[in-house]
Amino acid sequence: MSGRRPLVAGNWKMNKTGVEAREHIARLRALLGDGELEADVAVCAPFTALEAAARAASGSPVEVYAQAVHEAPSGPHTGEISAGMIVATGSDGTLVGHSERRAAGETDAQVAARVRAALDAGLQVIVCVGESLAQREAGETEPWCEGQVRAALGRVRAEEVATLAIAYEPIWAIGTGRTATPETAQAACAHVRTVAAGFLDPAALRVLYGGSVTPDNARELMAQPDVDGALVGGASLDPDGFAAIVAEAP
Ligand code: PGA
Repeated sequence: MSGRRPLVAGNWKMNKTGVEAREHIARLRALLGDGELEADVAVCAPFTALEAAARAASGSPVEVYAQAVHEAPSGPHTGEISAGMIVATGSDGTLVGHSERRAAGETDAQVAARVRAALDAGLQVIVCVGESLAQREAGETEPWCEGQVRAALGRVRAEEVATLAIAYEPIWAIGTGRTATPETAQAACAHVRTVAAGFLDPAALRVLYGGSVTPDNARELMAQPDVDGALVGGASLDPDGFAAIVAEAP
């Protein structure tokens, strides 16, 4: 046993209105029950549903995260949201550096600044890293992820280890049904932890796996010694399926 508490987070991406978020969380709360859970549980809602989601989750173990954050506190950034705005919705945290954001132009420098801004505002952070299929096939997975981890953690302080998790999400596994094998996930998460050890206590840092996690494969993935939970996209949209994944946390 690693001693690290698992974290299972659902990334809703561009899905769910405020009303749908409320319904989803009500169902999730009923499924998870009142007892002590084996894992921390979070849902990453679209900006427009954050306030409704936070209200629906209030008083429950379900935490609410945004999916992205801008580094500036305010200003001429059309369409962006600051960390302070996310805090004001009653949310607990935010994703940073999801590959779908990086593909739309988010840079390593922005990821670092956004992690810093989120932590400064008191938000918890899940920062995402991961390689493309071409990079994996070229044998570049480790140096690529190392660069992303080093950049993302460049402005994090050692005492912040409990408020930050890293999600290793190979791009080729996201939304493809092509889940990494438990061995592949373990190797990459272990490597991420080794690189992160230059910044944060590796024994305390949570490293998640993401990419086509389902109720059927979640147990074996999360049982790996360096996999401390999951970031779940498609399979998190249905509260029953997401609760089934939470139940697989070791
Ligand atoms: P997926 O998405 O589970 O649908 O592959 C994971 C993610 O993008 O976080």
